[in-house]
Amino acid sequence: MSATSRRFCQVEIMTVDYKMLGKQFAALADADENRLAMSANFVALLYAEIPDINWLGLYILRGDKLVLGPFQGLPACTTIPVGQGVCGTSAEKGETLRIDDVHDFDGHIACDPASKSELVVPLISAGRVFAVLDIDSPYGARFTEHDQVGTEEVSRIFVAALEAQQQPLDEFI
Ligand code: SME
Repeated sequence: MSATSRRFCQVEIMTVDYKMLGKQFAALADADENRLAMSANFVALLYAEIPDINWLGLYILRGDKLVLGPFQGLPACTTIPVGQGVCGTSAEKGETLRIDDVHDFDGHIACDPASKSELVVPLISAGRVFAVLDIDSPYGARFTEHDQVGTEEVSRIFVAALEAQQQPLDEFI
């Protein structure tokens, strides 16, 4: 195998079919389902399907703090003030943050010292952030533009499933 094809194979191995993941989640999500159960399955599905990560979970906005929600990985920080860490900054700005090296991010909160790169996607409904999806990897620069666009899309499908229940999303679980 040539160096080029090896590199090609590695890229292939790393690539997640986020469209398929979105469809899988949509099939799992029942409009009448308990929100905690739906959120737990969302997190479990993503953690099972995205390779080379060591932590994936939700932080739920409660007042001016993010509170740990359903997750997969090692036990993590239970509260993060909005504006602090990668999660709190993403929640404050309402923007996805893709960090190649968490040690370069001023104020990064280290829950698992093995984490080297991080992707945080804010969950937004009616223009307001109500939670963030946080994904950590033990590899530097693990997350690509493809992962960012893909996780934003599956997050929109998750938010749409919650919105379909027509209940307020403030402190939703
Ligand atoms: N690193 C995050 C904290 C949460 S853990 O990664 C699970 C941050 O800086 O906000």
